[in-house]
Amino acid sequence: MEIVIQPTPEAATAIAARLLSQLIRQKPAAVLGLATGGTMEPLYARLVAAQLDWAQITTFNLDEYVGLSPEHPQSYHHFMWHHLFRHVNASPKNINLPDGLARNVPLACEDYERKISAAGGIDLQLLGIGTHGHIGFNEPTSSLASRTRIKTLTSQTLKDNARFFSRPSEVPHHVITMGIGTILDSRHCVLLAFGKNKARAVAGSIEGPVTSMFPASALQLHPKVTVFLDAAAASELKMCEYYRWVYDQKPDWQKF
Ligand code: PGA
Repeated sequence: MEIVIQPTPEAATAIAARLLSQLIRQKPAAVLGLATGGTMEPLYARLVAAQLDWAQITTFNLDEYVGLSPEHPQSYHHFMWHHLFRHVNASPKNINLPDGLARNVPLACEDYERKISAAGGIDLQLLGIGTHGHIGFNEPTSSLASRTRIKTLTSQTLKDNARFFSRPSEVPHHVITMGIGTILDSRHCVLLAFGKNKARAVAGSIEGPVTSMFPASALQLHPKVTVFLDAAAASELKMCEYYRWVYDQKPDWQKF
């Protein structure tokens, strides 16, 4: 696992944007796994500013609220169009998000998994992390082998996400999310976490045991993970100085 610690979220986001831009330039038909949440907004702004060619890019988003239509301002469909897709030349037929209005949810989830496989799998999966260590909406105690499915949100996530809704009671209780097994199948996982409120989840996931109590800890089983942190999110890591030293020693050809 590569841990990149920067003084500020802006500095870390700039490097993460360079990594993504490099992939899009080197592999114009790459398959990207995308994420939503406040952490991703500045990253998408940088990708838009980079004026990349998205014509052949395929995207799969991690998750969506059950019961929200694509037009709902808090749906992840809406988030993605607002922050990224309407600003770039991605082809709508190559954009995929779980269907929050699916009548047959298990079938829609199987179909989503099939589409990811048919696209050749995900080259790079972007991830945020919840304050209790979720990735996607794989809440604590999610199976580490899980695939795309419906999940019930924990009270912690309902509380964390209430800030995006006009009333806390409006946050949907159910979601469709890629599973941890789905995420681990991607060829490169890139996680971004900023702020003191993520420090405990970050430390538990990177340096704690692999446990479904911190779903992001499953990333320890993945051969290629890059984690971008600001100083606050890194503040509970025991090996913090080592990670900084490793990054500082990187030869230029290995840098993003
Ligand atoms: P955030 O969400 O970027 O809004 O903090 C991250 C997550 O819940 O995965």
